[in-house]
Amino acid sequence: GIELSLRPEHLKEYIGQTSVKENLSVFIQAAKLRNEPLDHVLLYGPPGLGKTTLAAIIAREMGVGFKTTSGPAIERPGDLAAILTSLDAGDVLFIDEIHRLSRAIEEILYSAMEDFCLDIVIGKGDTARSVRLELPPFTLVGATTRAGSLSSPLRDRFGVMSRLEYYTESDLKEIVKRTGEVFGVHVSDESAEEISRRSRGTPRIANRLLKRVRDFAQVDGTSSISVETAHRALELLQIDRLGLDHIDHKLLQGIIHIYKGGPVGLEAIAASIGEEAETIEDVYEPYLLQVGLLQRTPRGRMVTPLAYDYFGLEDVNRA
Ligand code: ADE
Repeated sequence: GIELSLRPEHLKEYIGQTSVKENLSVFIQAAKLRNEPLDHVLLYGPPGLGKTTLAAIIAREMGVGFKTTSGPAIERPGDLAAILTSLDAGDVLFIDEIHRLSRAIEEILYSAMEDFCLDIVIGKGDTARSVRLELPPFTLVGATTRAGSLSSPLRDRFGVMSRLEYYTESDLKEIVKRTGEVFGVHVSDESAEEISRRSRGTPRIANRLLKRVRDFAQVDGTSSISVETAHRALELLQIDRLGLDHIDHKLLQGIIHIYKGGPVGLEAIAASIGEEAETIEDVYEPYLLQVGLLQRTPRGRMVTPLAYDYFGLEDVNRA
């Protein structure tokens, strides 16, 4: 439509992830020159960094259709068969959370990816028989927060594996500015920087914070976001100076207060603070590791001396 989309639609508009972008750009151009579908692509890394956006861009740059599904949505072989047989030649099929496919489904995917055919068993018992369906050639784009959870035969069938990294503050600032334009609000440099600093390297968080800050500006009756408004909104949202939220605090302070700083097993700390172990591992922990507030040891999770400093607490374990 006429309206600029929140998600970039072309590789050139996609900010950050330079090496991923440069590589994909070459692979896409080469596949187009050969008139072939792009090799299967696995995108991995923490949530909110733009894996789905990138998958949609790949389809658009290749000039093919885009279908999306997710690991948990594909429960039975028939679910996968229905999706695969609905593809047009060259289409991109995006499977989000691909590490959550069952082993049985993964096995059907192997031959679909490798030979573009589908071996399925129809019927039960004496009348069961195997049928082979030809599929149109397609590109599978898989996304996962944990490449290590894929079986190696599945992982091996991706010709391209790209790891998305946390964004720099300057890339996030550019994204916040762009999103401001999409929303039709003016975001001052200083407020874009403030939002970027507190977004944990994650565009999804930056855009969400910008939306909330915009709400405050709107109620103030202005379409211009000042650094004062940004500050006030971020305070009220309880986003601290590193962008850590209530759950990050519970996690770190739980380890400090309940487990004397750790080490503590993931399940134990998850139970103590009432969060899912998987959410901690996939969503919260990666950034805390990156900024050096948390460490993983063979005996479990430990906070670092920096975490005690951050909360202005005395490290009882320090000599
Ligand atoms: N919006 C979210 N992620 C983006 C990115 N990487 N580039 C541009 N806009 C975005």
